[in-house]
Amino acid sequence: MPDRSQDRRLTVRDIARAKGGEPIVCLTAYTAPVARIVDEACDLILVGDSLGMVLYGMDSTVGVTADTMIAHGRAVVRATRRACIVVDLPFGSYEQSPAQAFATAARVLAETGCAAVKLEGGEEMAETIDFLTARGVPVLGHVGLMPQSVNAAGGFRVQGRTEESARRILADARAVEAAGAFGVVIENTVELLSRTLTQELAVPTIGIGASPACDGQILVTEDIVGLGGAFTPRFVKRYANLGGGLAGAVQDYAADVRARRFPGPEHTANPAPPKAESKA
Ligand code: KIV
Repeated sequence: MPDRSQDRRLTVRDIARAKGGEPIVCLTAYTAPVARIVDEACDLILVGDSLGMVLYGMDSTVGVTADTMIAHGRAVVRATRRACIVVDLPFGSYEQSPAQAFATAARVLAETGCAAVKLEGGEEMAETIDFLTARGVPVLGHVGLMPQSVNAAGGFRVQGRTEESARRILADARAVEAAGAFGVVIENTVELLSRTLTQELAVPTIGIGASPACDGQILVTEDIVGLGGAFTPRFVKRYANLGGGLAGAVQDYAADVRARRFPGPEHTANPAPPKAESKA
């Protein structure tokens, strides 16, 4: 990975070349204020469709639209200058045909200014990834647990526990790489499989709940600072409790307003002199 002090944005080539070196540091960001902070430390920022659950309170990522991804992608690109920005293609916007995927990906690239798109799927999406990459759309693959398929998979379970499941994920990752993806996100897989995938693939593996064997790591930023949903997956490490801090600040503000302690003179333009005490 190029020195982070260099004043230029990291490219998908930089990410691809980081295979086997210092771990690639990745996090999600959906909004400008968070992206600005994440950009200071991360190599790759994903505008993930997990925003449907984290920001919009949806039960899954299935209801997220391309318009929503574009609005958030644009905000994140605008707020950052160092990290390589990747935007998720949401469910229903790319699976129908390579042409549909290209139309959505072209909008995402043109309207956000991001470097690449990510899409979920293995062997069944290889033709589409090949179509996109041959036409100038860099693609980050995503295999293992695929949240957009939660309805078919029946939940968010660890993947690759059985020989059959591990063989399928290996075939998926190989197909995604052969189709031209510059890297592959591996979600919620057992360590032995993540290690095999990382050894076998020439492109970097970026793990989420996929063990330290991967070439890089990604988590949802809100999860690591205590602003995620009610359920925190086992693979998340909590680094701060901003949720607790926010709750305390909101309680203090409410108490101040009710007791007329806020706003004070320092928050008021041309404050009037205090009312004189009335004499009886
Ligand atoms: O949508 C998302 O946030 C993801 C993960 C890999 C973090 O796809």
